[in-house]
Amino acid sequence: MTIEFDVHSQEETEQIAKKLAGLLSPPDVITLEGDLGAGKTTFTKALAKGLGITRTVNSPTFTILKQYEGEDFLFNHLDVYRLADSDEDLGWDELFYGDAISVVEWAHLIEDDLPSERLEIQLQHTGILQESFCSSLKVDVMKRFVRR
Ligand SMILES: Nc1ncnc2c1ncn2[C@@H]1O[C@H](COP(=O)(O)OP(=O)(O)OP(=O)(O)O)[C@@H](O)[C@H]1O
Ligand SMILES: [Mg+2]
Repeated sequence: MTIEFDVHSQEETEQIAKKLAGLLSPPDVITLEGDLGAGKTTFTKALAKGLGITRTVNSPTFTILKQYEGEDFLFNHLDVYRLADSDEDLGWDELFYGDAISVVEWAHLIEDDLPSERLEIQLQHTGILQESFCSSLKVDVMKRFVRR
């Protein structure tokens, strides 16, 4: 099942992320796909805030993985863009079990490491409105959420 949101500002993107945060629990994995600058990190920052992460979440582009302490879970933020040219198996799958909530930008690049049960989000620009952009935010809902 896919839910599509038409977003008209950065604030709306952030609101959806914060609402989603309230539904998550470890070991949920969220994958974010969308072109460069589509809003993946913006979404992740708001999600982390919604999860009660107090440290500032920055783009992990140069480190691939950043980990943050939540109240009783870890928050993993991965940006695997730089793995596009690599066919090394770095064992990312081990991150996705246990007491962690994980977000993966450019997730298709580590497809084999991802759990089959995950929440897939697609961000796509649809236009420009003042200084912000509009986008379509497609959320492919995990079976577990449909039951909630
Ligand atoms: N509707 C919107 N939703 C999200 N971000 C928006 C929106 N409108 C404008 N922005 C701005 O667009 C930029 C999106 O950048 P962001 O780093 O989140 O993209 P990204 O998808 O993570 O890029 P990358 O592929 O480089 O990791 C931010 O500067 C944000 O302030
Ligand atoms: Mg990013």
